[in-house]
Amino acid sequence: MKDLRAAYGQYAVVTGASSGIGEEFARQLAAAGVNVVLVARRKGRLDALAAELSRIHGTTNEVVALDLLADGAVDELWRRVGDVDVGLVVANAGISLAGPLVAHSLADELDVFALDGAVPLQLAHRFGRDFAQRRRGAIVLVSSSIAASPVPYSANYAAVKAYVLSLGQALNYELKKDGVDVLVATTVVEVGIDIPNATVMVVLGAERFGLAQLHQLRGRIGRGSERSYCVLVSDASDSERLAAMTAKKRDENGREVPLDGFDLAKRDLAIRGAGEFLGVRQSGVPELRIVDLADVDPELISETAEEADRILAGDAALSRSEHAELSRAVDQLWRRYALA
Ligand SMILES: NC(=O)c1ccc[n+]([C@@H]2O[C@H](COP(=O)([O-])OP(=O)(O)OC[C@H]3O[C@@H](n4cnc5c(N)ncnc54)[C@H](OP(=O)(O)O)[C@@H]3O)[C@@H](O)[C@H]2O)c1
Repeated sequence: MKDLRAAYGQYAVVTGASSGIGEEFARQLAAAGVNVVLVARRKGRLDALAAELSRIHGTTNEVVALDLLADGAVDELWRRVGDVDVGLVVANAGISLAGPLVAHSLADELDVFALDGAVPLQLAHRFGRDFAQRRRGAIVLVSSSIAASPVPYSANYAAVKAYVLSLGQALNYELKKDGVDVLVATTVVEVGIDIPNATVMVVLGAERFGLAQLHQLRGRIGRGSERSYCVLVSDASDSERLAAMTAKKRDENGREVPLDGFDLAKRDLAIRGAGEFLGVRQSGVPELRIVDLADVDPELISETAEEADRILAGDAALSRSEHAELSRAVDQLWRRYALA
């Protein structure tokens, strides 16, 4: 593994280190010999973690108990770490709200907006400028796989995470010439990941993932010459879906090979159903009454998407007379989901 201290500096700042993913970032960094500045509101938990990491790994850790939603909090953090050699910052602290946006108070949604969006921006700006001047450093922004598309009932959270993903990917490009690495974490830390000698992956709660996604995850190991293992941990004792992950088929040379991503996506669709087009159910009884999506040729799906793009490029409002039927059908669909 890369020597993080030599590459970036003696200390890493981890926000949201008092639990969950942030705590794990802190543990991994300390295990790699990096001193950690632990940031969150719950001082007791941070003190206990700092002491534990020092005992196990011999690192010198600092605790900064701070409400990052308070005015000037990032400036305050900057001041508090002013005299240590920080070379890595993990902008992880985050909160989320689920449910209809309008059912929440605006103040609560603005807190999500600020903690998950504005605070990572401020951290990237503050530390990024310093790292660029020193010509070394790394910034990790914790986004989410939810950033991949708009998500009704997590509308603001998903939009903010998409912002963080976009910000990080662009900064990765901008700061590369200054010797600064930027990673964005979604399901895995995925920008710039290339660890050919990674040989083990453990996925907890595996039944909650789509099979194609599990296949993508296991693709992160087994890139080198060593035999690799992907361990799927699940409460579901007898899962037809997860069994597909170890199923085999014969390739054109008659050799037994695992199912590929297309096979698995198809199998998942057949077992779980397609779910809703615009609703929140991602699996279950499909809405199409005649066609079973699991039987549809993937070629036809991409041709249909291309055709839809072509129509929308020429007539986005579907106002031409030849699109009247289509316009009516879209209108009906929108009304069904109370979106029109
Ligand atoms: N869990 C998931 O499935 C998942 C998936 C994708 C992305 N993520 C992202 O991963 C990050 C961590 O999530 P998690 O699941 O590990 O969450 P978590 O266990 O709830 O941890 C959130 C952390 O943020 C800190 N925090 C919350 N409000 C804060 C504030 N106002 N000021 C300072 N610190 C604050 C909390 O500490 P205190 O309460 O002590 O302040 C805690 O350490 C988030 O950005 C989240 O959006 C999570």
